[in-house]
Amino acid sequence: MIKNLYKIPKHVAIIMDGNGRWAKRRGLPRVFGHREGAKAVERILKAALNTEIKWLSVFAFSTENWGRPKEEVDAIMSLLVEYVNTKVPTLIEDNVRLRFIGRKEGLPEMILKAMEEGEKATEHCTGLNFVVALNYSGKAEIVDAVNKILEEGRIDITEKDFKNYLYIPDMPEPDLLIRTSGEKRISNFMLWELAYTELYFTNLMWPDFDEEEFYKALYFYQTRERRFGKVIG
Ligand code: FPP
Repeated sequence: MIKNLYKIPKHVAIIMDGNGRWAKRRGLPRVFGHREGAKAVERILKAALNTEIKWLSVFAFSTENWGRPKEEVDAIMSLLVEYVNTKVPTLIEDNVRLRFIGRKEGLPEMILKAMEEGEKATEHCTGLNFVVALNYSGKAEIVDAVNKILEEGRIDITEKDFKNYLYIPDMPEPDLLIRTSGEKRISNFMLWELAYTELYFTNLMWPDFDEEEFYKALYFYQTRERRFGKVIG
């Protein structure tokens, strides 16, 4: 347990990048990379459970990812269904609440069913919130929020009000964003929520990311001084 480190982020968000390259380097089909990527998800969730992190969110599938070959899209969707169908008992045991963000439209029935069942089965869990971004786009989340506001006929809202129209209104903004694979981009992930987030990039491909690397990222966070645009000291 690393419970007593003096500064633990409340919310860690992850852009899990590099599954395809991890597979390609080994002469394997991309799908193998996603399968190893799913194992890394489990590892990091376990590692987060050994800390006081309250929210862990992962970018599993973006609205842009539909542009990939059908067999790859199908494989990612199947992995997600398999994950929910097999891991829910462990999530409950670990007191983890599973939640999804993203647009429901366009998702296959089997995935919608698994998402709904997974969310419902873990609704009562009060430990870590595990957020899976699926068919997600940060711009779409903002547009969806604006449309909800327009539907309600509101004309004057504050930033605080706006937050209530995001996919999970009670989700705190990420303190730390981790992106693997060496790319240094936000790629349309949580555009509203990442405004003051500390960014951590590593060259490791997502399937190679492990507990030790996760703790390295937490250590990086502990060395940052967050000023939120103010002058401190
Ligand atoms: C990015 O690597 C990875 C994805 C788009 C898919 C991530 C999905 C999983 C790990 C499936 C399991 C998820 C859960 C929550 C159990 P990439 O394919 O873009 O890699 P590349 O940039 O090397 O091509």
